[in-house]
Amino acid sequence: MRRIYLDYNASTPIDPAVADAMKPFLEDHYGNPSSGHWAATMARSALETARGQVAALLGCHNDEIVFTSGGSEANNLALKGVFFALCDKGDHIVTTQIEHPAIIEPCRFLERQGARVTYLPVDGSGRIDPDDLRRAITPRTILVSIMHANNEVGTIQPIEDCARIARERGVLFHTDAAQSVGKIPTNVSRLGVDLLSIAGHKAYAPKGVGALFVRRGASIEPLIHGAGHEGGRRAGTESALLAVGLGKACELARDLTPMDRVRALRDHFWKELQKRFGNRVVLNGHPTHRLPNTLNVSFVSRIGAEMLARLDGIAAATGSACHSGRVELSPVLEAMGISPEVGMGAVRFSLGRGTTRAEIDVAVQRLTDVLAAPE
Ligand SMILES: Cc1ncc(COP(=O)(O)O)c(C=O)c1O
Repeated sequence: MRRIYLDYNASTPIDPAVADAMKPFLEDHYGNPSSGHWAATMARSALETARGQVAALLGCHNDEIVFTSGGSEANNLALKGVFFALCDKGDHIVTTQIEHPAIIEPCRFLERQGARVTYLPVDGSGRIDPDDLRRAITPRTILVSIMHANNEVGTIQPIEDCARIARERGVLFHTDAAQSVGKIPTNVSRLGVDLLSIAGHKAYAPKGVGALFVRRGASIEPLIHGAGHEGGRRAGTESALLAVGLGKACELARDLTPMDRVRALRDHFWKELQKRFGNRVVLNGHPTHRLPNTLNVSFVSRIGAEMLARLDGIAAATGSACHSGRVELSPVLEAMGISPEVGMGAVRFSLGRGTTRAEIDVAVQRLTDVLAAPE
Protein backbone atom coordinates (compact mmCIF):
# COMPACT_ATOMS: atom_id res chain seq x y z
CA MET A 1 0.00 0.00 0.00
CA ARG A 2 1.46 3.31 -1.08
CA ARG A 3 1.94 5.76 1.80
CA ILE A 4 0.81 9.32 1.22
CA TYR A 5 1.63 12.17 3.59
CA LEU A 6 -1.08 14.85 3.72
CA ASP A 7 -0.38 16.17 7.21
CA TYR A 8 2.08 19.01 6.61
CA ASN A 9 0.25 21.22 9.14
CA ALA A 10 1.20 18.70 11.82
CA SER A 11 4.84 18.62 10.77
CA THR A 12 6.97 18.84 7.65
CA PRO A 13 9.92 16.71 6.59
CA ILE A 14 13.31 18.39 6.94
CA ASP A 15 14.27 19.98 3.64
CA PRO A 16 17.47 18.37 2.24
CA ALA A 17 19.10 21.83 2.02
CA VAL A 18 18.32 22.35 5.72
CA ALA A 19 19.85 18.98 6.63
CA ASP A 20 22.97 19.81 4.57
CA ALA A 21 23.38 23.16 6.33
CA MET A 22 23.08 21.49 9.74
CA LYS A 23 25.51 18.63 9.11
CA PRO A 24 28.79 20.45 9.97
CA PHE A 25 27.25 21.46 13.32
CA LEU A 26 26.34 17.87 14.08
CA GLU A 27 29.82 16.65 13.32
CA ASP A 28 32.42 19.41 13.72
CA HIS A 29 31.41 22.72 15.28
CA TYR A 30 30.71 21.85 18.88
CA GLY A 31 31.89 25.05 20.55
CA ASN A 32 29.72 27.07 22.91
CA PRO A 33 28.70 30.21 20.98
CA SER A 34 29.34 32.33 24.11
CA SER A 35 32.95 31.18 24.66
CA GLY A 36 35.86 33.45 23.90
CA HIS A 37 38.15 31.05 22.00
CA TRP A 38 38.55 29.49 18.55
CA ALA A 39 35.99 26.72 19.13
CA ALA A 40 33.23 29.29 19.63
CA THR A 41 33.87 31.33 16.51
CA MET A 42 32.11 29.10 14.00
CA ALA A 43 29.12 28.42 16.26
CA ARG A 44 28.69 32.09 17.13
CA SER A 45 28.89 33.32 13.57
CA ALA A 46 26.51 30.58 12.38
CA LEU A 47 24.06 31.48 15.13
CA GLU A 48 24.10 35.13 14.10
CA THR A 49 23.82 34.27 10.39
CA ALA A 50 20.79 32.14 11.23
CA ARG A 51 19.27 34.97 13.24
CA GLY A 52 19.75 37.20 10.20
CA GLN A 53 17.98 34.66 7.98
CA VAL A 54 14.98 34.52 10.32
CA ALA A 55 14.96 38.32 10.55
CA ALA A 56 15.13 38.64 6.76
CA LEU A 57 12.05 36.43 6.37
CA LEU A 58 10.10 38.51 8.88
CA GLY A 59 11.53 41.87 7.78
CA CYS A 60 12.89 42.86 11.19
CA HIS A 61 16.19 43.59 12.95
CA ASN A 62 18.42 40.67 13.95
CA ASP A 63 18.24 41.65 17.63
CA GLU A 64 14.46 41.32 17.51
CA ILE A 65 14.70 37.52 17.09
CA VAL A 66 14.77 35.23 20.14
CA PHE A 67 15.43 31.55 19.42
CA THR A 68 13.11 29.18 21.29
CA SER A 69 12.42 25.44 21.37
CA GLY A 70 9.42 25.81 19.05
CA GLY A 71 6.04 27.42 18.56
CA SER A 72 4.70 26.52 22.00
CA GLU A 73 7.62 28.14 23.79
CA ALA A 74 7.46 31.23 21.57
CA ASN A 75 3.75 31.61 22.39
CA ASN A 76 4.33 31.05 26.11
CA LEU A 77 7.16 33.60 26.09
CA ALA A 78 4.97 36.16 24.33
CA LEU A 79 1.96 35.77 26.64
CA LYS A 80 3.62 35.21 30.00
CA GLY A 81 6.57 37.44 29.12
CA VAL A 82 4.32 40.43 28.38
CA PHE A 83 1.98 39.71 31.30
CA PHE A 84 4.79 39.51 33.86
CA ALA A 85 6.52 42.58 32.39
CA LEU A 86 3.37 44.71 32.29
CA CYS A 87 1.11 43.39 35.08
CA ASP A 88 1.51 46.64 37.00
CA LYS A 89 -0.03 48.47 34.01
CA GLY A 90 -2.97 46.13 33.41
CA ASP A 91 -4.28 42.60 33.69
CA HIS A 92 -6.40 42.09 30.57
CA ILE A 93 -5.52 39.99 27.51
CA VAL A 94 -7.64 39.58 24.37
CA THR A 95 -7.38 36.43 22.24
CA THR A 96 -9.75 34.24 20.21
CA GLN A 97 -11.73 31.07 20.77
CA ILE A 98 -9.91 29.23 17.98
CA GLU A 99 -6.28 29.58 19.08
CA HIS A 100 -4.00 26.57 19.31
CA PRO A 101 -3.68 25.07 22.82
CA ALA A 102 -0.21 26.68 22.92
CA ILE A 103 -2.10 29.99 23.34
CA ILE A 104 -5.28 28.85 25.12
CA GLU A 105 -3.43 26.99 27.89
CA PRO A 106 -0.99 29.80 28.79
CA CYS A 107 -4.06 32.08 28.91
CA ARG A 108 -5.77 29.69 31.32
CA PHE A 109 -2.57 29.63 33.40
CA LEU A 110 -2.45 33.44 33.47
CA GLU A 111 -6.11 33.53 34.52
CA ARG A 112 -5.04 31.49 37.55
CA GLN A 113 -2.39 34.19 38.20
CA GLY A 114 -5.05 36.92 38.20
CA ALA A 115 -5.26 37.85 34.50
CA ARG A 116 -8.59 38.45 32.80
CA VAL A 117 -8.84 37.02 29.29
CA THR A 118 -11.43 37.75 26.60
CA TYR A 119 -11.84 35.00 23.99
CA LEU A 120 -13.26 36.59 20.83
CA PRO A 121 -15.81 34.57 18.84
CA VAL A 122 -15.46 33.73 15.13
CA ASP A 123 -17.95 33.50 12.27
CA GLY A 124 -18.85 30.34 10.34
CA SER A 125 -15.67 30.60 8.28
CA GLY A 126 -13.46 30.95 11.37
CA ARG A 127 -12.77 34.70 11.07
CA ILE A 128 -13.01 37.22 13.86
CA ASP A 129 -14.70 40.61 13.45
CA PRO A 130 -12.19 43.44 14.09
CA ASP A 131 -15.06 45.46 15.59
CA ASP A 132 -15.35 42.80 18.31
CA LEU A 133 -11.69 43.44 19.11
CA ARG A 134 -12.28 47.20 19.15
CA ARG A 135 -15.07 46.70 21.69
CA ALA A 136 -13.09 44.24 23.82
CA ILE A 137 -10.07 46.48 24.48
CA THR A 138 -10.23 48.34 27.81
CA PRO A 139 -7.77 50.66 29.58
CA ARG A 140 -6.59 47.51 31.46
CA THR A 141 -5.68 45.63 28.24
CA ILE A 142 -1.95 44.93 27.90
CA LEU A 143 -1.86 42.38 25.07
CA VAL A 144 -3.86 41.13 22.09
CA SER A 145 -2.92 37.72 20.68
CA ILE A 146 -4.63 36.57 17.48
CA MET A 147 -3.33 33.71 15.36
CA HIS A 148 -2.28 34.50 11.80
CA ALA A 149 -3.71 31.32 10.25
CA ASN A 150 -5.61 28.49 11.89
CA ASN A 151 -3.97 25.08 12.02
CA GLU A 152 -7.20 23.10 11.52
CA VAL A 153 -9.15 24.96 8.86
CA GLY A 154 -6.45 27.32 7.53
CA THR A 155 -8.54 30.48 7.91
CA ILE A 156 -6.40 33.63 7.79
CA GLN A 157 -7.30 36.41 10.22
CA PRO A 158 -7.43 40.13 9.33
CA ILE A 159 -4.19 40.71 11.26
CA GLU A 160 -3.35 44.10 9.72
CA ASP A 161 -6.73 45.56 10.78
CA CYS A 162 -6.55 44.03 14.25
CA ALA A 163 -2.95 45.14 14.83
CA ARG A 164 -3.91 48.69 13.79
CA ILE A 165 -6.73 48.73 16.33
CA ALA A 166 -4.37 47.54 19.09
CA ARG A 167 -1.71 50.09 18.13
CA GLU A 168 -4.23 52.96 18.18
CA ARG A 169 -5.07 51.95 21.74
CA GLY A 170 -1.41 51.56 22.79
CA VAL A 171 -1.73 47.79 23.30
CA LEU A 172 0.93 45.25 22.27
CA PHE A 173 -0.11 42.82 19.52
CA HIS A 174 1.10 39.23 19.16
CA THR A 175 0.36 36.78 16.38
CA ASP A 176 0.99 33.04 16.31
CA ALA A 177 2.40 32.53 12.81
CA ALA A 178 3.37 28.86 13.32
CA GLN A 179 1.17 27.84 10.41
CA SER A 180 1.68 30.78 8.09
CA VAL A 181 5.47 31.00 7.68
CA GLY A 182 6.46 29.80 4.22
CA LYS A 183 2.83 29.64 3.08
CA ILE A 184 1.80 33.31 3.00
CA PRO A 185 3.71 36.59 3.59
CA THR A 186 4.76 37.13 7.20
CA ASN A 187 6.44 40.55 7.15
CA VAL A 188 6.07 41.99 10.64
CA SER A 189 5.97 45.62 9.46
CA ARG A 190 3.26 44.93 6.92
CA LEU A 191 1.29 42.96 9.48
CA GLY A 192 1.96 45.70 12.06
CA VAL A 193 2.62 43.26 14.90
CA ASP A 194 4.87 43.66 17.97
CA LEU A 195 5.43 39.96 18.61
CA LEU A 196 5.23 36.95 16.27
CA SER A 197 5.83 33.24 16.90
CA ILE A 198 7.26 30.73 14.46
CA ALA A 199 7.78 26.95 14.68
CA GLY A 200 10.63 25.30 12.76
CA HIS A 201 9.02 21.92 12.17
CA LYS A 202 6.04 23.43 10.34
CA ALA A 203 8.43 24.98 7.82
CA TYR A 204 10.87 22.18 6.83
CA ALA A 205 13.26 22.72 9.77
CA PRO A 206 13.68 20.18 12.60
CA LYS A 207 11.45 19.86 15.65
CA GLY A 208 12.71 21.55 18.81
CA VAL A 209 13.42 24.98 17.36
CA GLY A 210 11.37 28.10 16.79
CA ALA A 211 11.62 31.82 17.32
CA LEU A 212 9.80 34.78 18.76
CA PHE A 213 10.01 38.19 17.11
CA VAL A 214 9.96 40.90 19.79
CA ARG A 215 9.81 44.44 18.45
CA ARG A 216 12.51 46.76 19.85
CA GLY A 217 11.10 48.54 22.88
CA ALA A 218 8.55 45.83 23.74
CA SER A 219 9.38 44.53 27.19
CA ILE A 220 9.08 40.86 28.09
CA GLU A 221 10.06 39.00 31.22
CA PRO A 222 12.02 35.82 30.39
CA LEU A 223 10.51 32.44 31.20
CA ILE A 224 13.94 30.96 31.75
CA HIS A 225 16.31 33.02 33.86
CA GLY A 226 20.02 32.38 33.76
CA ALA A 227 23.01 33.80 31.92
CA GLY A 228 22.12 36.60 29.54
CA HIS A 229 21.62 34.62 26.34
CA GLU A 230 19.35 35.92 23.60
CA GLY A 231 19.60 39.50 24.81
CA GLY A 232 18.51 38.46 28.31
CA ARG A 233 15.19 37.13 27.03
CA ARG A 234 15.86 33.36 27.08
CA ALA A 235 18.68 31.84 29.08
CA GLY A 236 20.43 28.66 27.99
CA THR A 237 23.33 27.89 25.67
CA GLU A 238 22.00 28.29 22.15
CA SER A 239 22.02 25.33 19.78
CA ALA A 240 23.87 26.51 16.68
CA LEU A 241 22.80 23.21 15.08
CA LEU A 242 19.08 23.92 15.43
CA ALA A 243 19.39 27.64 14.76
CA VAL A 244 21.23 26.90 11.50
CA GLY A 245 18.37 24.58 10.52
CA LEU A 246 15.75 27.21 11.24
CA GLY A 247 17.79 29.88 9.49
CA LYS A 248 18.12 27.84 6.31
CA ALA A 249 14.42 26.94 6.39
CA CYS A 250 13.54 30.63 6.74
CA GLU A 251 15.79 31.49 3.81
CA LEU A 252 13.89 28.93 1.71
CA ALA A 253 10.53 30.17 3.05
CA ARG A 254 11.10 33.62 1.56
CA ASP A 255 10.25 32.15 -1.83
CA LEU A 256 6.50 31.56 -1.80
CA THR A 257 6.29 30.41 -5.44
CA PRO A 258 6.20 26.67 -4.49
CA MET A 259 2.85 27.49 -2.89
CA ASP A 260 1.31 28.24 -6.31
CA ARG A 261 1.69 24.56 -7.23
CA VAL A 262 0.48 23.45 -3.80
CA ARG A 263 -2.59 25.68 -4.05
CA ALA A 264 -3.42 24.30 -7.51
CA LEU A 265 -3.15 20.72 -6.17
CA ARG A 266 -5.30 21.58 -3.15
CA ASP A 267 -7.96 23.13 -5.41
CA HIS A 268 -7.83 20.12 -7.75
CA PHE A 269 -8.35 17.86 -4.71
CA TRP A 270 -11.41 19.82 -3.59
CA LYS A 271 -12.92 19.93 -7.12
CA GLU A 272 -12.56 16.15 -7.45
CA LEU A 273 -14.22 15.59 -4.08
CA GLN A 274 -17.11 17.87 -5.04
CA LYS A 275 -17.47 16.12 -8.40
CA ARG A 276 -17.71 12.70 -6.77
CA PHE A 277 -19.60 13.44 -3.57
CA GLY A 278 -21.67 16.59 -4.27
CA ASN A 279 -23.39 17.83 -1.15
CA ARG A 280 -22.02 14.94 0.93
CA VAL A 281 -18.83 17.01 1.33
CA VAL A 282 -18.63 20.41 3.01
CA LEU A 283 -15.62 22.74 3.04
CA ASN A 284 -14.65 23.97 6.52
CA GLY A 285 -12.86 27.31 6.71
CA HIS A 286 -12.88 30.47 4.64
CA PRO A 287 -13.23 29.92 0.88
CA THR A 288 -10.54 32.50 0.00
CA HIS A 289 -8.88 33.82 3.19
CA ARG A 290 -7.31 30.42 3.74
CA LEU A 291 -3.82 28.88 3.72
CA PRO A 292 -3.00 27.63 0.20
CA ASN A 293 -2.14 24.11 1.42
CA THR A 294 -5.07 23.37 3.73
CA LEU A 295 -8.25 21.48 2.86
CA ASN A 296 -10.53 20.71 5.78
CA VAL A 297 -13.47 18.70 4.50
CA SER A 298 -16.46 17.28 6.32
CA PHE A 299 -17.86 14.01 5.06
CA VAL A 300 -21.44 14.56 6.17
CA SER A 301 -22.83 12.02 8.66
CA ARG A 302 -19.48 10.22 8.87
CA ILE A 303 -16.95 10.21 11.68
CA GLY A 304 -13.63 11.67 10.55
CA ALA A 305 -11.52 9.40 12.76
CA GLU A 306 -13.23 6.30 11.36
CA MET A 307 -12.74 7.51 7.80
CA LEU A 308 -9.04 8.05 8.47
CA ALA A 309 -8.66 4.63 10.04
CA ARG A 310 -9.99 3.09 6.83
CA LEU A 311 -7.89 5.30 4.54
CA ASP A 312 -4.95 2.93 4.67
CA GLY A 313 -1.58 4.59 4.28
CA ILE A 314 -2.91 8.16 4.09
CA ALA A 315 -1.59 10.44 6.82
CA ALA A 316 -4.11 13.20 7.55
CA ALA A 317 -5.80 14.58 10.67
CA THR A 318 -9.19 14.88 12.28
CA GLY A 319 -9.54 17.99 14.38
CA SER A 320 -5.94 18.90 15.06
CA ALA A 321 -3.01 16.49 14.89
CA CYS A 322 -1.58 17.99 18.08
CA HIS A 323 -4.54 16.68 20.08
CA SER A 324 -5.99 13.97 17.88
CA GLY A 325 -7.38 10.63 18.97
CA ARG A 326 -10.66 12.24 20.06
CA VAL A 327 -13.87 11.95 18.13
CA GLU A 328 -15.72 14.86 19.67
CA LEU A 329 -16.12 18.06 17.69
CA SER A 330 -12.92 20.07 17.80
CA PRO A 331 -13.16 23.36 19.74
CA VAL A 332 -12.32 25.21 16.51
CA LEU A 333 -15.24 23.72 14.56
CA GLU A 334 -17.47 24.21 17.59
CA ALA A 335 -16.53 27.91 17.79
CA MET A 336 -17.36 28.19 14.08
CA GLY A 337 -20.87 27.00 14.89
CA ILE A 338 -20.61 23.89 12.71
CA SER A 339 -23.30 21.32 13.45
CA PRO A 340 -22.18 18.03 15.03
CA GLU A 341 -23.49 16.09 12.02
CA VAL A 342 -21.12 17.99 9.71
CA GLY A 343 -18.26 18.64 12.13
CA MET A 344 -17.81 15.04 13.25
CA GLY A 345 -16.92 14.08 9.67
CA ALA A 346 -14.14 16.66 9.39
CA VAL A 347 -10.80 15.54 7.97
CA ARG A 348 -7.90 17.93 7.54
CA PHE A 349 -5.70 17.31 4.53
CA SER A 350 -2.65 19.56 4.47
CA LEU A 351 -0.36 19.51 1.46
CA GLY A 352 3.26 20.56 1.14
CA ARG A 353 6.24 20.97 -1.13
CA GLY A 354 6.54 17.20 -1.59
CA THR A 355 2.92 16.56 -2.56
CA THR A 356 2.33 15.32 -6.12
CA ARG A 357 -0.69 15.23 -8.42
CA ALA A 358 -0.48 11.41 -8.46
CA GLU A 359 -0.76 11.35 -4.65
CA ILE A 360 -3.87 13.51 -4.72
CA ASP A 361 -5.46 11.29 -7.35
CA VAL A 362 -4.75 8.17 -5.27
CA ALA A 363 -6.18 9.90 -2.17
CA VAL A 364 -9.36 10.80 -4.07
CA GLN A 365 -9.71 7.20 -5.25
CA ARG A 366 -9.22 5.77 -1.75
CA LEU A 367 -11.78 8.20 -0.35
CA THR A 368 -14.20 7.10 -3.05
CA ASP A 369 -13.65 3.44 -2.12
CA VAL A 370 -14.10 4.13 1.60
CA LEU A 371 -17.30 6.10 1.09
CA ALA A 372 -18.72 3.45 -1.23
CA ALA A 373 -18.07 0.66 1.28
CA PRO A 374 -20.73 -0.10 3.91
CA GLU A 375 -20.14 1.77 7.20
C1 LIG B 1 -0.97 27.38 15.25
C2 LIG B 1 0.02 26.63 16.06
N1 LIG B 1 0.64 27.25 17.08
C3 LIG B 1 1.55 26.62 17.83
C4 LIG B 1 1.88 25.31 17.60
C5 LIG B 1 2.89 24.63 18.50
O1 LIG B 1 4.15 24.58 17.88
P1 LIG B 1 5.27 23.55 18.39
O2 LIG B 1 4.79 22.20 18.02
O3 LIG B 1 6.51 23.96 17.63
O4 LIG B 1 5.44 23.74 19.84
C6 LIG B 1 1.26 24.62 16.57
C7 LIG B 1 1.54 23.19 16.33
O5 LIG B 1 0.67 22.43 15.93
C8 LIG B 1 0.31 25.30 15.76
O6 LIG B 1 -0.30 24.70 14.75
